[in-house]
Amino acid sequence: MIDIHSHILWGLDDGARDRDESIAMLKLAAETGTTDIVATPHSNHQYQFDYDLATERILDLSEATSGLPRIHRGCDFHLSLDNVQSAMQDPTRFTINGLSYLMVEFAETIIPTSTEEIFRLLLERGVTPVITHPERNPILQDSFKRLSKWIEMGCLLQITAQCLTDRFGKAAELSARALLKMRMVHVIASDAHDTQHRPPRLDLAREILTRELGSDVAAMLLEDNPAAIIAGREILVDAPEQGDSQKKWFHFWK
Ligand SMILES: [Fe+2]
Repeated sequence: MIDIHSHILWGLDDGARDRDESIAMLKLAAETGTTDIVATPHSNHQYQFDYDLATERILDLSEATSGLPRIHRGCDFHLSLDNVQSAMQDPTRFTINGLSYLMVEFAETIIPTSTEEIFRLLLERGVTPVITHPERNPILQDSFKRLSKWIEMGCLLQITAQCLTDRFGKAAELSARALLKMRMVHVIASDAHDTQHRPPRLDLAREILTRELGSDVAAMLLEDNPAAIIAGREILVDAPEQGDSQKKWFHFWK
């Protein structure tokens, strides 16, 4: 499986606190079936995104864990004015592996009215926003209309693996399940911060998805779509004209 959202790089944000914890998180990810993980340190008002330090820590941790799992570069990007300006100048500093997908996280208290305009500018620049965990955001978790509009524009949705259990509360779980049922979810990731409370594990979510929606849906959300994202390729989408990918969705979601 491929995990596109994690805070495994120590000392850069509220994720891993030290190198040992980073290594323990990576080992746990590998042991539970994750072959590739994207390191996505925050870039918000609280934590400054340090591209060079992130790259250095990825190299060091990759060596320490012998590339199990493979670590990719990304960023948990907030839509502040400074961030958007920097991303418009050089999106590759923030996008996953410097390619076309950008993880976008919203504050829990406000969604800027300029959001659609920012998405439009990013999409025109060749950057596809991946909205992280809308199911945990009190404003977005039942704003299905707004989320569908973003998907229609070309954005993707990522939900949190632990929301399929009630780790983040009933409202987040219900929202995650509703989004899944409405086929509005493109990828599931851990958003791991440690080994205990928010671990880098996708195996439990895979069990639940396989039981409830079938193994092909689980593979799409945990393997196929995230594989496309880390490679900067188009994902399988839920649109009638998409041929095989649509058939795959329909078959398992009817
Ligand atoms: Fe995150």
